[in-house]
Amino acid sequence: MKRKIIAGNWKMNNNNAQTKELIKQIAPLVKDAKCEVVVCVPFTDLDAARRAVRGTNIKLGAQNVHWAPKGAFTGEISAEMLLEQKVQYVIVGHSERRQYFGETDESVNARAKAAIAAGLKVIICVGETLEEREAGKTTEVVVRQTNAALKGFEKIDLKKVVIAYEPVWAIGTGRTATSQDANDTIAIIRKAVRKLYGKTAANAMRIQYGGSMNAKNAAELLAMPEIDGGLIGGASLKAEDFAVIVNSAK
Ligand code: PGA
Repeated sequence: MKRKIIAGNWKMNNNNAQTKELIKQIAPLVKDAKCEVVVCVPFTDLDAARRAVRGTNIKLGAQNVHWAPKGAFTGEISAEMLLEQKVQYVIVGHSERRQYFGETDESVNARAKAAIAAGLKVIICVGETLEEREAGKTTEVVVRQTNAALKGFEKIDLKKVVIAYEPVWAIGTGRTATSQDANDTIAIIRKAVRKLYGKTAANAMRIQYGGSMNAKNAAELLAMPEIDGGLIGGASLKAEDFAVIVNSAK
C-alpha cells in the first residue's frame, strides 16, 4: 500500500517565531498520522522549522530550488543549500511560480532533475487555468505538463517524485474541484506516467490533489481511489485545520 502524503505549502507566510509556534501546535495533533506529513516553509524559516520539527513525524520541505549547484543566480537557492537545512521535499513548478515568475515546463524539469540528483524528493505541480478548463483543454494541459516535467527521468527517480494536481482556478479561491473531477484528472495524469514509465511505476507514484482543500472537504477528496494526498495552502496555516486534513488521510 502506498502511504498518502499531506504537505502544507505555507507560501510567503510566517516569520521565525510564527514558524516555531505553528509547528509546535501542529506536532501533537498529527503525531499518530497514518500518512507522511510535510511542511514547505519559506527559505528564511527553514532553520527555525528544522529545529521545531526535530523529534516529530513532520518532515521539512522548501518551495523552490535552482537547477545549478551554485553560481551567479541572484535570488535562487540550490539543492545543496536545502540539504544543509535537512530539507527532504521541495515543491517545483507551483502554478504561482509559473504564473508570476516565468517558470516554464523546461525550467520545472531542470529544477526537478537537479533536486533529485542531489538527493531531494520533489512535489511537482501541474494544473490547468480556468480559461484552459473552459476551453476543454484540461487533459491536454496536464498531460503536457506531466510529460515535460518528467522528461529525461530514470525510472528509479520516480520513487522520489510526487505530483500535485492543482487546478489553478481552485487555488486560494475556496472553489474546490469535485472529488470526482479531481479523481478523474489524476487518473489522466497517472495514465500519462504509465505511458512513459509503465504500469508499476505509475501505480506506485503518489499523486496529490491541491486547491482549496480544507478541514471540511479533505475526507471526501482523500477517500477517492486515485488521490494519494493533498498539497494544502491556506488551511495549512491553521494547526487544527491542517491536522484534520492530515488525520483524514488513511
Ligand atoms: P490553497 O493552495 O489550499 O490555499 O488553495 C494550494 C496550493 O497552492 O498549493
